[in-house]
Amino acid sequence: MSLKSKIHSENLPKHIAIIMDGNGRWAKEKGFLRVFGHENGTKSVKTTVESCAELGIENLTLYAFSTENWNRPKLEVKTLMQLLISSLKKEMNTLQKNSIRLNAIGNLEHLPARVRKELLHVIDETKNNTRMTLTLALSYGSRDELVNATKQICDKVKNNIISVENIDETLINQHLYTQNLPDVDLLIRTSGEKRISNFLLWQIAYAELYFTDVYWPDFTNENLYEAIINYQKRERRFGKTSEQLH
Ligand code: IPE
Ligand code: IPE
Ligand code: MG
Repeated sequence: MSLKSKIHSENLPKHIAIIMDGNGRWAKEKGFLRVFGHENGTKSVKTTVESCAELGIENLTLYAFSTENWNRPKLEVKTLMQLLISSLKKEMNTLQKNSIRLNAIGNLEHLPARVRKELLHVIDETKNNTRMTLTLALSYGSRDELVNATKQICDKVKNNIISVENIDETLINQHLYTQNLPDVDLLIRTSGEKRISNFLLWQIAYAELYFTDVYWPDFTNENLYEAIINYQKRERRFGKTSEQLH
């Protein structure tokens, strides 16, 4: 029995988020430069995006570049930005063919103008696609997102658009970069690291966490299926008792 056929279509995670980690170690262990790992990581992005769409996952969010990643060597940052532009150009057809809408979260103002231009172009071209929303987290940091939301809310209170009493979880949600996305159901991190690294802190409040030792460039469809099968075996209690759910 293939792994894929073990996935139950009625219990799919509505939102999968992935911390794509391990590109650098993958390359170094093979005696290559780190950037070679990033290049090979783009292949895993393509197969994962296509598989998720095919399975019927409605939302996939990929952590591609964190606010902290700006502190990497200049050349690595430059290469990552170039890879992003070339991938966006190359994969536009894949998105259209599969009716995938591109979305981006993060401090996009920080991105180089040519990256932002290509990104906004693909977002616009794919805006009417309905099968899956692919969100790229770029120059994204959860703390930055919460600071940004707090400032917007305070501004609205100051200008009497809302009052303090209006502040609730829904309102905070509406001021996050992820405002139109449902909560994360399944968070996957590759490469063996077991940390969140400033990713979607608010949105993963009740996500199921899945860690695998596989480096991102080696992450295959089968690895994705394993993660989803593992997710489907879990009991999501949301604070209730097991008995209440049955
Ligand atoms: C993930 O791989 C890609 C980015 C963070 C951009 P890394 O580059 O972090 O790879 P490791 O963790 O050093 O192996
Ligand atoms: C997290 O990976 C960011 C991305 C995958 C884009 P890092 O490799 O930057 O995380 P840390 O620094 O090891 O926690
Ligand atoms: Mg890393």
